[in-house]
Amino acid sequence: MTARTVLVTGANRGLGKQVALEMAKLGHKVWVTARNAEDGKKAVETMSAEGLDVHFRHMDLAWPGSIGQAKDEIGDVDILINNGAILEKGDPLAVEHDALERSVRINLLGATHCLRAFAPGMIDRGWGRIVNVSSGWGSFGEGMDGPMAYCVTKAGLNALTKNASIHFPDTVKVNSVCPGWVRTSMGGDEASRSIEQGAKGIIWAATLPDDGPTGGFFRDGKPVEW
Ligand SMILES: NC(=O)c1ccc[n+]([C@@H]2O[C@H](COP(=O)([O-])OP(=O)(O)OC[C@H]3O[C@@H](n4cnc5c(N)ncnc54)[C@H](OP(=O)(O)O)[C@@H]3O)[C@@H](O)[C@H]2O)c1
Repeated sequence: MTARTVLVTGANRGLGKQVALEMAKLGHKVWVTARNAEDGKKAVETMSAEGLDVHFRHMDLAWPGSIGQAKDEIGDVDILINNGAILEKGDPLAVEHDALERSVRINLLGATHCLRAFAPGMIDRGWGRIVNVSSGWGSFGEGMDGPMAYCVTKAGLNALTKNASIHFPDTVKVNSVCPGWVRTSMGGDEASRSIEQGAKGIIWAATLPDDGPTGGFFRDGKPVEW
């Protein structure tokens, strides 16, 4: 694959950090973005020590201004991985108002603003890959039985995938990926998958060939019910 420029959100830890590392190892230039600058810079230092082409930029997904500033500094990217997210607990009545608003801002609007910032360059240049890291909890078909704020915002993210894929040319592929249940701070120690296993499906969607799918929802490279 041609060397590309990649941006990963929430790349200071968990799946985002692993995906950034693996994309850099594939020979791409990677922007590690994070709201936690200390951890983000540390992640970049470790990867740079391995000789990888990795760079840090602060980006808080809760603030459109922060996304816009990052775009101004970074410029165009070829591959956008919308990974950063939060999981707030509670059913529709129990979830705190602030937690609900935070979830919408970060999980749905943050990813949407990133797509709106970086997709135009991809469309102009005639090549792009956008991966929205979603969840089985955002799937109607898989029961939608998790915490309300998380389920609803991930279902919204899936709707963004579908809608953008219809409006964008086929050369700019937009797909949702569920990494499975992964042992990160979000997934917990009991989760069935390692970070490496979880990252695999995200890398797959980020590196799709020109005849690969767009507008789909995948786990392990296989379709998941919306
Ligand atoms: N782990 C699982 O079992 C599982 C299952 C299905 C889907 N997913 C999805 O996989 C993705 C990665 O999750 P993970 O398991 O790696 O979780 P994680 O370890 O909790 O990492 C979440 C990342 O999102 C970042 N983030 C949160 N709010 C942000 C904000 N306002 N601006 C920028 N970054 C922000 C966090 O940064 P901070 O360090 O600053 O908090 C962190 O880097 C998420 O989209 C998640 O929904 C995970």
